[in-house]
Amino acid sequence: MNIVVTHSEEASRDRWVETLRTLLPQASVAPTGSPDAASAEFAVGWAPPDDFFAAHPKLRAFFSAAAGVDFLLRHPGLPPDLPIVRLEDAGMGAQMVDYCRHEVLRVAGRWDDYRALQARGEWQELDALGPGQLPIGVLGMGVLGSRVAAALAADGWQVSGFARGPRQVDGVRCFHGSAQWFDFLAATRLLILLAPLTTETADIIDAQALSRLQPQGWLVNVARGALVVDADLLAALDAGHLAGATLDVFRQEPLAAGHPFWAHPKIRLTPHIAAVTRVEESAVQVADKLQRLLRGERPGGWVDRSRGY
Ligand code: NAP
Ligand code: GLV
Repeated sequence: MNIVVTHSEEASRDRWVETLRTLLPQASVAPTGSPDAASAEFAVGWAPPDDFFAAHPKLRAFFSAAAGVDFLLRHPGLPPDLPIVRLEDAGMGAQMVDYCRHEVLRVAGRWDDYRALQARGEWQELDALGPGQLPIGVLGMGVLGSRVAAALAADGWQVSGFARGPRQVDGVRCFHGSAQWFDFLAATRLLILLAPLTTETADIIDAQALSRLQPQGWLVNVARGALVVDADLLAALDAGHLAGATLDVFRQEPLAAGHPFWAHPKIRLTPHIAAVTRVEESAVQVADKLQRLLRGERPGGWVDRSRGY
């Protein structure tokens, strides 16, 4: 069995190669560009170059080194019937819970307000926001969203979730379908985005959606930048309807120098690190999915190309 590894970061690519070689000693695992890779039947990786699929015509499946597969589905050379299998949690769930919980506690504890008081040399106690004052909504109730929603609900927060179809998560009020979209937003003050980027979710957080959130709302985008209309977010922040936003993902990454998000006083941003791929743990999952595929099974994380995730 021949496996090719492609990755935009050389160090990650080499770690994937090394780890897969250890896990699958019977396989030939090679990085893109090496002579063995041309006849690969399976590919593993992130952000393949434009000529990748033309250079690897024998591929039987692509294993994404990420949970999201929008980078693959918009690839100009992706063969129409090539199966795509994505990572499911693989250590990202715990990281995502930590990131989101951190932001919830920061907003609820009024840490930005304390920072401003400190800058002014003022000693003043503020009322923290309790669960009744900071209802949380999670858009996307899949592997990561349902884990985040359940963790926050277990912490005592009032949590709603929204997905395409009906979901059941302990302690979480679940909404679904376009008919319930505005009800979900109206029940939410702090909105966490954890839906994949698809034709349906692109630009879903626009002026209208933001206006339906409860006043003094907060947006946490840990999904993909293109879910949010940048200009509408800035307008909602500047108008005061939104109190702030935490952004981990952007339409263009790295975020362009001079983009208004960099210096906005109500935005806090991180460089797409909310949940990173841990190669060792992820490679174990990919090796298992690959072996299932070879046994004729359909592994978990099989991407439905028609729905886009
Ligand atoms: P997943 O298991 O496929 O879950 C996707 C969820 O989104 C499902 O609940 C799905 O609804 C819902 N959804 C899809 N289209 C929707 C729509 N139009 N309206 C409402 N809900 C919709 O994905 P995951 O593993 O949780 O990952 C989610 C996303 O997180 C990834 O696609 C990636 O973009 C992002 N991510 C970011 C980072 C980071 O570091 N920032 C790390 C990992 C992942 P159904 O349940 O009805 O199917
Ligand atoms: C990261 O953004 C991922 O999709 O895994």
